[in-house]
Amino acid sequence: MLNSQRIFVQAIKTYCTEHGLAVDVCADGWLIVMRDGARRKLAFAYDLGLNSAVAHRIANDKSATSDVLALSGVACVPHTLFLNPELNAFVPPRGSWEAMLDLLQQSPGGIVVKPNEGTSGKSVFWVTSRPALELAVKRIFSTHTALAVSPYLDIEDEVRVVMLDGKPLVVYAKDRPAVTGDGRRSLLALALESVPAARRSSVLPGLFADFDRAALDAIVPAGERRLLNWRHNLESGAEPALLQEGGTRDACAALAADAAEAIGIRFASVDVVRANGAWQVLEVNSGVMMEALSSKHPELVQATYSAALREVFA
Ligand SMILES: Nc1ncnc2c1ncn2[C@@H]1O[C@H](COP(=O)(O)OP(=O)(O)O)[C@@H](O)[C@H]1O
Ligand SMILES: [Mg+2]
Repeated sequence: MLNSQRIFVQAIKTYCTEHGLAVDVCADGWLIVMRDGARRKLAFAYDLGLNSAVAHRIANDKSATSDVLALSGVACVPHTLFLNPELNAFVPPRGSWEAMLDLLQQSPGGIVVKPNEGTSGKSVFWVTSRPALELAVKRIFSTHTALAVSPYLDIEDEVRVVMLDGKPLVVYAKDRPAVTGDGRRSLLALALESVPAARRSSVLPGLFADFDRAALDAIVPAGERRLLNWRHNLESGAEPALLQEGGTRDACAALAADAAEAIGIRFASVDVVRANGAWQVLEVNSGVMMEALSSKHPELVQATYSAALREVFA
């Protein structure tokens, strides 16, 4: 999608038109200037300018986020920081490799290695062996200055809460694409037949990246459910499903509010996960992206950005 066609850009234009504000869209929509008479407000990327610089930077840094949350007593997935050896002036004398191996050894289910400032599930690897760890580290450090390591958790649910000034505006689960075996067809055949054409280009790349040929061609036993991607990113084919009022929604919203308060962030999306029955924060995003949600719930997305923009001009 062109930057200038992002829902974020459209939502700002709609708000400005409805409120008689002038709007200039620059850099293909990456920079937006809104004007209310002599007052001028800026939006950049997915940022409306409501968050302080330090809150924005901490939210973008997965390891700093988990440190702040842990210090504040907010349940979270630990993320340990490792710097690219290119920055070796800042790397501890013992280097990083042994400490990474220690983390791998301490986590029987493996570890997840990801860019410390990544988004959209790009370069997020689940590794269970030393060679796989070496490969993941090499790949991430070829394009990033830092990575974060977490213990792998068997995540039952991941929920996104869009927070504005302590209030949950949107709460939705991210349902991963999955197939159920029939004892006749292979994983690849089931995926090709069950994923609608419009979603294949987001679902299939993850399938080919995560499964080898033997796994793709193996017959899935009847009744057995298989996830097509272990990650919950909407960009890799997970689908947003709004949560109804109730205990789960309340628990996620309360945890997200604690996380937002700990970081001191006003407008953010907070991702919380349930593993072994307990909810914990996985990450906080300072830029609020709702591209995937908007195809199902455009009014809710507009209402959410409009609420944030009202605060911008308050
Ligand atoms: N420690 C972990 N254990 C299990 N799954 C994880 C873990 N960390 C990340 N994931 C999976 O990978 C996805 C992407 O990781 P995330 O930390 O959200 O990075 P990104 O900013 O790229 O979305 C998550 O939605 C989740 O499904
Ligand atoms: Mg994520």
